[in-house]
Amino acid sequence: MEINFKISGQWRADAAIVFAWKNEEPEEVCGSLEGCAPWFPIAPAWRDFSGEKDELALMYGPEKMDIPRILVIGMGDTRKASASGFRDAFATAIRSIKGKAIRHIGIDLASARKAARLCGMSAESVVRELAALAGLALYRFDRYKSGEETGSSIERLSFFIDGASCPESIRRAARMGEAEAAGVCLARDLANTPANLLPPHTLAEAAEKLAQRSGISCSVLGPEELASEGMNAMLAVAAGSSEEARAAVLKCEGVSAEAPIVLVGKGLTFDSGGICLKPAAGMEEMKSDMSGAAAVLGVFEALDVLSRSGIRPKRTVIGILACAENMPGGSAVKPGDLVRAKNGKTIEIVNTDAEGRLVLADALAYGAEKFSPALMVDIATLTGACLTTLGYGSAGLFTDDDALARRILGISRDVFERTWRLPIWDDLFEGLKSTVADMANSGPKPGGSIRAAVFLKQFVPENIAWAHLDIAAADNLDTPSNPKGTSGFGVRTLLALALGE
Ligand code: BES
Ligand code: MN
Ligand code: ZN
Repeated sequence: MEINFKISGQWRADAAIVFAWKNEEPEEVCGSLEGCAPWFPIAPAWRDFSGEKDELALMYGPEKMDIPRILVIGMGDTRKASASGFRDAFATAIRSIKGKAIRHIGIDLASARKAARLCGMSAESVVRELAALAGLALYRFDRYKSGEETGSSIERLSFFIDGASCPESIRRAARMGEAEAAGVCLARDLANTPANLLPPHTLAEAAEKLAQRSGISCSVLGPEELASEGMNAMLAVAAGSSEEARAAVLKCEGVSAEAPIVLVGKGLTFDSGGICLKPAAGMEEMKSDMSGAAAVLGVFEALDVLSRSGIRPKRTVIGILACAENMPGGSAVKPGDLVRAKNGKTIEIVNTDAEGRLVLADALAYGAEKFSPALMVDIATLTGACLTTLGYGSAGLFTDDDALARRILGISRDVFERTWRLPIWDDLFEGLKSTVADMANSGPKPGGSIRAAVFLKQFVPENIAWAHLDIAAADNLDTPSNPKGTSGFGVRTLLALALGE
């Protein structure tokens, strides 16, 4: 989708979108659109439109007009306005035009700005959301459905400016939204893809393909390289599968020479639980156990889109996708088996279903050793306990660094990725005591998400700032901007963090 800005006199689209608040007169809603759509305030459909929340009206003018249709979104009572209500209303409106001959939509920036003010959002934030949602609301994973039309029907989005110019910050906001949508859609596509079509090597190849068509570089470690790096915890996870493990390492050069930021994603293309097999009900959802890795790759997709508008991260950004498949084959790792991780620590694998922390342990230690980063963040569908704690739609954030926590929570609020901080209580390490190794990979059920974070902490050197995002509860949604399925959660938060906002 192409996004552009049009000054007065150039306003043209198949349909314009405006926001109408409860009991507003057509003239108030119309604003500056009257010039190119003089029919709008007298459109007959106004007779049945009152601006209630969730009300939508597609109004028609003469076909030859510059703007022959206007989609009016009812926003309800101004006193009840909220940013999430705004997003849902716009996403629902975008979805309503599916199947119509509307390829080019225009948004009256003045109308959007007024909505922003009432919803407590900045003009930049509203433009960014509109650009992102235009690319996200029509998302469908229908490439394997026979006879369904694929892709979004919107080809162009124009912001109508009342005047001769538009501030650079608004233009940048639109570029951000556009890049975010591209990154989130890629992450959703990967996480929705069935495991037989996306084994670990294919996920790593997706990273290589992105690198081939962009200024991003990528190298991939296979079983031999992983073994020579001492990444035995990762190899243990893949041992029971006929699919080999891979670690894909991406790099996007920053403008400064400061120490890089490393993003690590859990890339379990399927998690059967291994010998500690999961129950059958719902097991198919474990094809998305690579959502963390998908989100990291989505960040690089977005960075590539931004680089085309000259926007580059301050620090170099490194991405590590820790890809493996957890299966109960004859050579699978068994409960009680022992491995030595990359940082030399020994792990007794008491539960083969606690595999995410094993691949992350090696990837975190690798990232710390190879890149001496200023900051490392991992993102993973790590624990069912996180789902129990937070319910669907939210991520758990774990870090000992209060300033980093504030930063990540602030960003996640701005980009509408609901995130909640949970503690890292070190004494929960007691539950990971092993009689044969430095630690076990699993312990008692209570505090499961926290204990997983305490486990990961053993693989991050103390002098490196580190945060862990548990997205087990966040990568599956069904909302107006996210049709049922995976959400691409984390792309937006990690992108903003990587850009050094
Ligand atoms: N991939 C799962 C976590 C998960 C569960 C993600 C539900 C999304 C939805 C993870 O590998 C896992 O199996 N975790 C175990 C850990 C336990 C064995 C310590 C869990 O949560 O039960
Ligand atoms: Mn598991
Ligand atoms: Zn898993």
